[in-house]
Amino acid sequence: MKLLSTLTSLLAVMTLVIALPPSTGNPEAAARKEIKDYKKKYTKYVHDTLKMRKTGCTKKKLLVRKEWSTLSKVERRNYINAIYCLASKPGLTPSSPYASYLPGARTRYDDFVAAHHLQSDYIHNDGLFLGFHRYYVHLYEQALRQECGYRAAQPYWDWTIGWEDPRQTAVFDGSPWSMGSNGVFIPVRPPTIVNFGAEIGDQPVAVGTGGGCVEKGPFTADKYQIHLGPTGYEPHGPLDGRGYNPRCLNRDITLEVAQNLRPSNVAGLLGQGNLFNFSLVLDAPAGVHVAGHFSVAGMQLDIFNGPSDPIFWLHHAMTDLVWTVWQAQDAKGRLEQVWGTVTAFDFPPSENATLDSPLNFTTIGPPKRLSDMISSIDGPFCYIYE
Ligand SMILES: *[C@@H]1O[C@H](CO)[C@@H](O)[C@H](O)[C@H]1NC(C)=O
Ligand SMILES: *[C@@H]1O[C@H](CO)[C@@H](O)[C@H](O)[C@H]1NC(C)=O
Ligand SMILES: *[C@@H]1O[C@H](CO)[C@@H](O)[C@H](O)[C@H]1NC(C)=O
Repeated sequence: MKLLSTLTSLLAVMTLVIALPPSTGNPEAAARKEIKDYKKKYTKYVHDTLKMRKTGCTKKKLLVRKEWSTLSKVERRNYINAIYCLASKPGLTPSSPYASYLPGARTRYDDFVAAHHLQSDYIHNDGLFLGFHRYYVHLYEQALRQECGYRAAQPYWDWTIGWEDPRQTAVFDGSPWSMGSNGVFIPVRPPTIVNFGAEIGDQPVAVGTGGGCVEKGPFTADKYQIHLGPTGYEPHGPLDGRGYNPRCLNRDITLEVAQNLRPSNVAGLLGQGNLFNFSLVLDAPAGVHVAGHFSVAGMQLDIFNGPSDPIFWLHHAMTDLVWTVWQAQDAKGRLEQVWGTVTAFDFPPSENATLDSPLNFTTIGPPKRLSDMISSIDGPFCYIYE
């Protein structure tokens, strides 16, 4: 269990600020240039591949996923309104086999939280993580489009914009065209204890700049409610966070953690040589996947019910962006790479993931295999990140 002990020791330093070497020149500007070059190669790969295509995913059908700050105000409101729509529709979970296990899931939006909750032990820190979440974001994007009249693609949150203080960015500035502000500041409080499960145990996380209900923008308590959790941090909601627990969306933007969202972190990730290394760097406690969740904190600390906060989808689109850009640097060598097992942190120990490994989407989508998930322009997918 070398991997497990590596992860465990990495988790032990989770609340520490990662000290970077003193800057010579401007390392972040250089890293931005590197990321731009990786993305250029990715864009060229997609266009070259689709040039020959007459069927399936063609250039004409490509959905263009854009960064939040590049959307117009109207485009952002269209996206926000589609989220309200999903959150106002009755869900499928109450009449599904999972109704008694997750009685807190009521709305169509909750169906997506419930599907993640049900699979959480199999789709994190393992070989299914990237594939599961690629289809998961796609199903959400489809629901917005097919059930709520949204016409554009899932936007993403480029972490490297405003890593110094995410509260100042178009994503979190609290305007009507943002994804909502930080939570109200609660000054004196103990650190939140996050529960990673049996092997990893419980970890305190740094106290941030908010801690209460989202204060401004489209997801304040009068406009948006969450229903499930907490399950992944203390204290848990009713029925271990599976019961009905209507409340405001909470956030606690944490600047120490946002330090791990620098351009150099992303460039370093994109420079990894194989999927094993890529995944370990991506999902390390100081890696960008964890940092995206933990810098927003609040419900983003809840590994089971994190999708309750709509920022989850922009963060996971960016997580998918780095995977797909990384793959495109050497599509022949990388598309079919697999690593890891099929249980979170390999606990309990399980078989290695293969391209045949099944993925389970319970009420939100049909079962899939990992092989269906490897290309963003094949199978169910046809999108490009701009
Ligand atoms: C999918 O997951 C659900 C919830 O854990 C489980 O009840 C069901 O048996 C799973 N389906 C398959 C085919 O494994
Ligand atoms: C993966 O990372 C290890 C440790 O940093 C390194 O020794 C190895 O060369 C890397 N493998 C590839 C293919 O980049
Ligand atoms: C699983 O993969 C690891 C690492 O590649 C390898 O050492 C191990 O033998 C594999 N286990 C099985 C059962 O194939």
